Amino acid sequence: MAETSWKGFFLSVFDYKTEKYVIAKNKKVGVLYRVVQLAIIGYIIGWVFLKKKGYQDTEESIQTSVITKLKGVSLTNTSDTGVHLWGPEDYVIPPQGETVFFIITNFIETPNQRLGYCAESFKVPDGLCRENADCQEGDSVIAGHGVKSGRCLKKDRNSTGTCEIYAWCPIERNRRPEQPLLRKAENFTVYIKNFIRFPRFGFSKSNVLETTNDTYFKRCSYHKSRQPYCPIFRLGDLVSWSGHDFQEMALMGGSIGILIEWNCDLDKGYSECNPHYSFARLDVKSSASSITSGYNFRYTRYYKDEAGNSYRTLYKVFGIRFDIMVHGKAGKFNIIPTIINIGSGLALMGAGAFFCDLVLLYMMKKSTFYRERKFECAKNSTKRKGEENTMTEDRGHRKQILERRQLTDLSPEA
Ligand SMILES: *[C@@H]1O[C@H](CO)[C@@H](O)[C@H](O)[C@H]1NC(C)=O
Repeated sequence: MAETSWKGFFLSVFDYKTEKYVIAKNKKVGVLYRVVQLAIIGYIIGWVFLKKKGYQDTEESIQTSVITKLKGVSLTNTSDTGVHLWGPEDYVIPPQGETVFFIITNFIETPNQRLGYCAESFKVPDGLCRENADCQEGDSVIAGHGVKSGRCLKKDRNSTGTCEIYAWCPIERNRRPEQPLLRKAENFTVYIKNFIRFPRFGFSKSNVLETTNDTYFKRCSYHKSRQPYCPIFRLGDLVSWSGHDFQEMALMGGSIGILIEWNCDLDKGYSECNPHYSFARLDVKSSASSITSGYNFRYTRYYKDEAGNSYRTLYKVFGIRFDIMVHGKAGKFNIIPTIINIGSGLALMGAGAFFCDLVLLYMMKKSTFYRERKFECAKNSTKRKGEENTMTEDRGHRKQILERRQLTDLSPEA
């Protein structure tokens, strides 16, 4: 007994099983099924393959290097120090061209500061005093400019004064010019060299147009439609493309983002891979007189007089900070994502068929009828094996013919 069942099992391994289908002549479900199929095919071809380029292997980890260089000079004439010539070596901070650079557009200069004793500014709350006891000797002024000497300097007995401090004197005067001193910075230019690499595809490129014409870069200036491959930008344009006014921004300072985007379809060839630039102001400007808007910081230049004593010039500089951000992704045909996407599309087809089955078997008026035809009930019978087989085969055949006829007759549209 055990031997025969073993043998039977062994032989059945080589049987090929195939599914039996029931054709339901139902126009409603038939149309629904075609619509679902069309929608899925449309989705796979239109969205997955054409729009999202599902047949490509993509790489988003772009490697990039940015080099910047500024050109332009400007003359300033202030009452304190007279005429001053500003070149890129003076107004660009840091001087080495990087992804972030700052251009001075306005400044407050405090020349000839020397170490000594003078009065703290009235603007520093911790520096105010009514008597000498308010100025504890040796304490530094909180958020102030120096160390208290212990004396309170007042105009007369009853007024409020400020502590005397040991500091770089005179203290900076906070008087902002009405006009940006480096107005001409609007016409300065910046040369942005950007090299990129997609390591997975071994693809490298730069944003600089490959030309043998030497004078091209001396004359050109980037423009979205007229000169898209010129990497030289006028600062005034950068600000106006971000939707702001250069002179207004130059007064208090601000921050501009330059976004370079590389979206490369490497199936299309080398010359089709080009950067797209976009510009945005990054410091949010809530209102015109907001004290938080703008961008400034201080720096000093030190000098020595003939006697060997040092003195310095303090600059509070206002300016525009440019942040260059490089993003990118590249795609190239690859068989593996293609197969994966086709496979998931086919699986989706299966889900469509499943959905139509549900509608047919449970939501139509004739659902019970279709259900009876679709699901065969296998009952346990005591008949001998061989007999049963021929019987069911024979009956099955006749039943199928009958079913077909009935299905056609009984379909709701008929
Ligand atoms: C910038 O250059 C243009 C043309 O050369 C000139 O008309 C304009 O006045 C300049 N802007 C400033 C602020 O100097």
